[in-house]
Amino acid sequence: MADSDQSRLSVALVDVHAGREPEFLALSRQFASIILRKGYGRAEVIRDEAVPRRYYAVRHWTNAAAAAQCHADAEIQALTAELHQLATVTHVVNGVARSQPRLITGDHRARVEPDRRSGFDRRVTNAGRRGGERRSGRDRRVGPRRLRDRPGEIDLIAAARRAREHADAAFSKFKVGAALEAADGTVITGCNVENATYGLTICAERVAMFKAISEGHRAFTRIAIVADTDAPTPPCGACRQILWEFGGNLEVVLANLEKEKGTHRLKDLLPLPFDARLL
Ligand code: THU
Repeated sequence: MADSDQSRLSVALVDVHAGREPEFLALSRQFASIILRKGYGRAEVIRDEAVPRRYYAVRHWTNAAAAAQCHADAEIQALTAELHQLATVTHVVNGVARSQPRLITGDHRARVEPDRRSGFDRRVTNAGRRGGERRSGRDRRVGPRRLRDRPGEIDLIAAARRAREHADAAFSKFKVGAALEAADGTVITGCNVENATYGLTICAERVAMFKAISEGHRAFTRIAIVADTDAPTPPCGACRQILWEFGGNLEVVLANLEKEKGTHRLKDLLPLPFDARLL
């Protein structure tokens, strides 16, 4: 039995796509057996009796380190990527990324205090910005937004549109934004960056993917690409190759500043790909 002070709990709401329940349940069994076998903790899946195709994926981690190891586990990441093809996943309890509010006494406090994100606010006076915490205009906070009609689902196109605002396209004047969704729901954005040599230009999609890889992400589900044109802007050949090698058969969502312009699967955009399996 895990020490109750060390253990952590994560709960995700899983809305399984129509007709995919048998695959989801098989996948859940795979998750459970790996989590148990590798000593990360234990996992269970609870069906919501009121909402069709809704499940709660509950994970009891042995401790925070075990949870972190599990998230970094390549086998788990591959299963997570599969899960995101079958269902919409919303994290409702994350006992690991944010530490749980706990009673902090004596020397514990000294260890926790340096990290403001631990929920312990050290401010004695309001040293924040004038006008309160709410920001507007160019100064606004830019975390991923949720879709109004599909709560829980991240608005990837909006994230790509915001990323596009940072594009440095002084030569082509063609600004592109991309937003890549990792299997754990993190959104990593990119924009195109040009320079005087022209040839060293890098596209929004590759910026997003390289940022994601450099931050430790290894499994991805979708990418949104936005440009200010009526015709959709699909990824160039070089980007298709990089997206395929690091992201696999991603869903590629194309949009302009007003609306979505179509969704594709990367394997359809890059038939007969060259990749590490052929080396
Ligand atoms: N570009 C992208 O960032 N992504 C695409 O999918 C197509 C092209 C950029 C590269 C260059 O900075 C500009 O758009 C014109 O080619």
